[in-house]
Amino acid sequence: MTRVLSVASGKGGVGKTTLVSNLGAILTEAEKNVTLVDGNLTTPNLSMHLGIPLYPVTLHDVLKDDAMMPEAMYVHPSGIKVVPSGIGIDDMEGTDSRHLPLAIEELMGETEMVLLDTAAGLGQETVSTLEASDELLLVTHPNMPSLTDALKTKNLAEDFGVDVIGAVINSHTGSKQELNEREVSDMLDGLPVLGKVPYDEKVPEAVAMKKPVVHHDPHSPASKEFKRIASEVVAEELDLDHGSRGLLSRISSFFRS
Ligand SMILES: Nc1ncnc2c1ncn2[C@@H]1O[C@H](COP(=O)(O)OP(=O)(O)O)[C@@H](O)[C@H]1O
Ligand SMILES: [Mg+2]
Repeated sequence: MTRVLSVASGKGGVGKTTLVSNLGAILTEAEKNVTLVDGNLTTPNLSMHLGIPLYPVTLHDVLKDDAMMPEAMYVHPSGIKVVPSGIGIDDMEGTDSRHLPLAIEELMGETEMVLLDTAAGLGQETVSTLEASDELLLVTHPNMPSLTDALKTKNLAEDFGVDVIGAVINSHTGSKQELNEREVSDMLDGLPVLGKVPYDEKVPEAVAMKKPVVHHDPHSPASKEFKRIASEVVAEELDLDHGSRGLLSRISSFFRS
């Protein structure tokens, strides 16, 4: 059984791609068979977060019926499996996002979990990712504008029969103006808050270095919370700390050297 879990927020820039790349890195490290798919077709940047160069075949080619899903799947040096979207301006030409559910269906039985990054907004692109998904993880900043967009996304997802499994509060600083976990959950009709990722300078640092923060600095505050959230998502304790020779630490020392 393949779980298709999308990560959405309504609002842009709240941490969807960061969450997808880090959950992907953690679950791969925990030996889960997970595939990341960049469902943000108009402004894709998952491959930039992962530092992967240009691909000959992308999700756009699959959506144009020019390729099959396996041809658009790549394995990142860290082992993360990813289906990138084309980053060129021409890639959108002739691309119909409504083919996304069929493309995702090609992964059924091939992977334990599909983690689907999504576009901002609630347009056709987001609707297509919801139609392709069984479950949804919401990301919000702890403020009203972001939470309002998350609520709209939740309502839309439920209209499509998607199981909204929880919310992640991202970039909290502890300022008095921020909404707390209870307020976020109440506003989202009692939805569980699966994690609260602190604002952490290591995250933009990792993005600039084109790698997930859990590879860049596995012990940073954000990395620790991403690991907790990953355990919540798969509902099990993940075996990640195999001492100093764990895969994450070996990857981070590789990038440091
Ligand atoms: N917990 C965090 N702490 C600090 N910066 C963050 C955090 N999460 C995300 N960011 C920064 O916010 C920016 C937007 O994140 P991104 O994941 O691309 O958002 P989205 O995919 O929702 O548009 C990124 O450049 C990233 O560096
Ligand atoms: Mg993004």
